[in-house]
Amino acid sequence: MKQDIYNLFYDQGLNTESLDFIERSKMTTYNSMNLGMRIGSIMQIPYYSKQVANHTTELGMCEKIPLQKTFNETALKLRDIQLVRKSTRKFNKFINLENLSNVLLNSYFVTEIFKDHSHHLARRSIASGGALYPIDLYYISLHTEGLENGTYFYNLHNESLDCLVLEKEEKNYMTNLLKAFPEEIKGEWDFSTVSGIIIFGAVINRVACKYGDRGLRFALMDVGAILQNIHLASAAENIDCCAIGGYIDDAIDSFLHFRYPDAYNIFIPGSDEYYIFEDLFGIQRLYGNSFEKSKEFWKEIKCLKIKRKSMIDISRIIYFLLSCVFITMFWGIFVFFISYPIWSRFM
Ligand SMILES: Cc1cc2nc3c(=O)[nH]c(=O)nc-3n(C[C@H](O)[C@H](O)[C@H](O)COP(=O)(O)O)c2cc1C
Repeated sequence: MKQDIYNLFYDQGLNTESLDFIERSKMTTYNSMNLGMRIGSIMQIPYYSKQVANHTTELGMCEKIPLQKTFNETALKLRDIQLVRKSTRKFNKFINLENLSNVLLNSYFVTEIFKDHSHHLARRSIASGGALYPIDLYYISLHTEGLENGTYFYNLHNESLDCLVLEKEEKNYMTNLLKAFPEEIKGEWDFSTVSGIIIFGAVINRVACKYGDRGLRFALMDVGAILQNIHLASAAENIDCCAIGGYIDDAIDSFLHFRYPDAYNIFIPGSDEYYIFEDLFGIQRLYGNSFEKSKEFWKEIKCLKIKRKSMIDISRIIYFLLSCVFITMFWGIFVFFISYPIWSRFM
């Protein structure tokens, strides 16, 4: 039994039924039309909304113990923020980097670092099953003043936004993003007034490796907790926001280059081996950034205008070159063995 644990991080922690649930609960281009119509029609029938929203669990005859409010000052402040929190779908003003920082840094952040604890390294602003924190936040900047349009990873340990890709660097950036929000589900949303979108990404295996299928529930609970914190932090800063559950899952996944839960790759760029190094060094997009730096460097060589490089950039270029050598060696050996039955005949 113990030896199973050695493969914990690389084994799929979810059963096929849970992976099926993830697949089946997706909004796709095939079901979005029906789903959109269903959601729209239910909202237009007040009877249904009232039946669902006003529903309370009927317990019949039972003793009712009255609850008293005796909030202290801090509790009252929390209550005041909750009272003003609401979802807003029409936006009048773009936020700036400072507003965004305040929302992120007050929603999902490290509250305490443990020096002596063997495994609980840092407490965060939400409770999380097993303190495994499977959720990562990404930010798509559309009109955030002081922040270029593009996709960022919210690095809560570093309190930074790590740039994954800029709109100007990626062909069809907006077209690809809008694929996730087709007309039939977009409704009245007007992205030209939206400052940016926070995406919740989960590395399910971070919890599933410990809790198995139950980890999926725990990951969803983390999302709820962070979502509420984002709403409260926004309300406290007088910033409008709204959760949006209508989007094509696969389009967002591919926009952010997420891998599928059951993805199995061998040694190709962006595959698991590269993520092992990313995890090992704790650097996001290690291969992607190294590739881009090397491309820039190659352009400089071609124009004979080589700029001074930082140690980080030099390491990235070396990492990319080493990756190229290893990929070539790997595929060379692979092709060598796989073609053995053919070439051995001529020996
Ligand atoms: C998981 C989730 C998905 C949601 N999806 C949408 C959505 O796609 N479009 C939308 O206009 N509002 C969406 N909302 C916002 C809800 O409609 C809103 O929270 C609800 O009407 C209650 O209103 P309030 O947040 O102002 O209290 C979503 C909220 C949650 C929590």
